[in-house]
Amino acid sequence: MGRVVGFISQKGGVGKSTLARALAREAAAGGLTVKLADLDVQQATSVNWHRRRLDHGIEPRISVEAYKTAAQAIGAGQSFDMLVVDGPGRSSRGSLDIARSADLVVQPTGGGVDYPSALIRSAWSWPACCSRDRRRRRIRSNSASIRRSGCSH
Ligand SMILES: Nc1ncnc2c1ncn2[C@@H]1O[C@H](COP(=O)(O)OP(=O)(O)OP(=O)(O)O)[C@@H](O)[C@H]1O
Ligand SMILES: [Mg+2]
Repeated sequence: MGRVVGFISQKGGVGKSTLARALAREAAAGGLTVKLADLDVQQATSVNWHRRRLDHGIEPRISVEAYKTAAQAIGAGQSFDMLVVDGPGRSSRGSLDIARSADLVVQPTGGGVDYPSALIRSAWSWPACCSRDRRRRRIRSNSASIRRSGCSH
């Protein structure tokens, strides 16, 4: 199993799909075999993006599929160098499953105070499987807006 990178957030519309697709595209261009798993089966944003790329013959080729659960996505990503998971619109049980499985979790956030506080609440609600240090690293990746919110972690 290669690296697993998950994009999740408490709030919708913060850039998960955009960033997931950008990472998948760049990793594939760099020579890695990449699976992009779209866990937002209702919107299927990344699957639709994939269809548009195929229609226009855009390289590099990336394997993109929709999955209902993180476990299904992880299973399908086994033979790839990198599995990029485009998470559901809002935090859910599925987001937690992604966080458990991922080597890196990216939580995009907007600039207002509501965004980082929602993000911190969701990250600290993760259970013991995410150690304190791992949660800190994940939170720190959004450091600029977190600092503005006054979080001391
Ligand atoms: N860095 C950015 N700068 C400007 N616009 C952006 C940026 N990232 C994303 N967007 C725009 O913001 C909108 C939402 O982005 P995106 O669909 O990636 O968010 P999302 O978190 O996946 O949304 P959802 O929760 O609905 O799945 C899109 O119109 C996208 O083009
Ligand atoms: Mg999305």
